[in-house]
Amino acid sequence: MVKTVLGVIGGSGVYDLPGLENARWEKVESSFGEPSDALRMGTLGGVDMVFLPRHGRGHRQTPSSINYRANIDALKRAGVTDILSVSAVGSLREDLPPGSFAIVDQFIDRTFAREKSFFGPGCVAHVSMADPVCPRLGDYAEKACKELGIAHKRGGTYIVMEGPQFSSRAESHLYRSWGCSVIGMTNMPEAKLAREAEINYATVAMVTDYDCWHDDEPDVSVTHVVEVLRQNAEKAQDMLKHIVGQIGPGEREPCPMGFDKVLDFAIITPPE
Ligand code: ADE
Repeated sequence: MVKTVLGVIGGSGVYDLPGLENARWEKVESSFGEPSDALRMGTLGGVDMVFLPRHGRGHRQTPSSINYRANIDALKRAGVTDILSVSAVGSLREDLPPGSFAIVDQFIDRTFAREKSFFGPGCVAHVSMADPVCPRLGDYAEKACKELGIAHKRGGTYIVMEGPQFSSRAESHLYRSWGCSVIGMTNMPEAKLAREAEINYATVAMVTDYDCWHDDEPDVSVTHVVEVLRQNAEKAQDMLKHIVGQIGPGEREPCPMGFDKVLDFAIITPPE
């Protein structure tokens, strides 16, 4: 049995976790460089919580300058067992309007300027990313959205672009033709690194806009995104409290998918 330590990675618009008991900011060193910020530690309903603002307080890190390895390493060192990422995204589907949440279960990684693995020459590992998302965390998020009346959709593919510019219209149509549900700039390599660190991971993608494919809606812009972000951030805080209530302070079964011991089967370099 395992006691959950819930890590929350807050995307654009989510820079703190109000209501934490015994809350403190703690700087955690990582051998992979500087995390985006110190970690906000505390408890909520008896659950140990570790919050990290992905872009740092004051939104200083670009999607490409975020040190994803240091962020995941810092959370691992803080004892985090499960990560819930809450991230602002554009919608690629009519039925995911701004203000709704997508509890995605797949990713397409189109990023190209980021460090993507903790492993490298000397120790080679290949973890499975067939199922990148923890279904148990997804269940918690779905139940929270249902009971709080938050418009949401379970499942869907999040395409991760490098940014920082938004997509061209041709790209937006291409990603729709691939069947993607939402687009954002940050969940990869985060999800891959969480898997390598044997941390369960799930994303609640909070829709702020229709990107630029929709004939009757404005093209995405920061002004538009920021407006919707504020409303989404409040809903995200309610959802997180509900999820923590479901997790509770007790112990739980190990991950049924085996995500917490993937390295038992992933390292190809023999021990010396
Ligand atoms: N984040 C929020 N909206 C986005 C969009 N349309 N494309 C990429 N990232 C986003």
